[in-house]
Amino acid sequence: MKKELIELRVNSRSYELAVEPSKLLLDALRQDLQLTGSKRGCDDSSCGACTVQVDGVPMLSCTMLAASCERQEITTIEGVSGHGSLAAIQKAYGDWGGAQCGFCTPGFIMTVTHLLAENPRPTEEDIRGALSGNLCRCTGYSQMYQAIKAAIEAEQKGMAEAR
Ligand code: FES
Ligand code: FES
Repeated sequence: MKKELIELRVNSRSYELAVEPSKLLLDALRQDLQLTGSKRGCDDSSCGACTVQVDGVPMLSCTMLAASCERQEITTIEGVSGHGSLAAIQKAYGDWGGAQCGFCTPGFIMTVTHLLAENPRPTEEDIRGALSGNLCRCTGYSQMYQAIKAAIEAEQKGMAEAR
């Protein structure tokens, strides 16, 4: 199939790629850009492991065409930490055992960072609702919720100290 040139903005960098029109965003990220943090966990849009943010909104990269994402800002798990330091939610995941095999973790983090950007003090119900499209087979979820609450507390404390 004939390839077309597209420009993708990923993690604040621009890339020019030659892709088939049918190429999925997940495959462009993983195969063309070697950004393998986003995972493919299913074939039917049901696991959330491939979640990235497109213009700040969590989206399933396994169901989007790469070519449809031109002129949009894509953020992957590789773009969450800043300058080599872990984001608060990533640190909390480590501290609280929020990840076991870790396969689902990038997708969860992309969904959670969007939630916290929109709603810095989410209730338990808000968190469960936001994460309803992300599945984990290992943790039983409770450590994950603990990690998210710890990250919220750390952010709140950091904000209070900065005042
Ligand atoms: S890989 Fe499962 S929803 Fe995208
Ligand atoms: S930590 Fe293994 S699937 Fe979630």
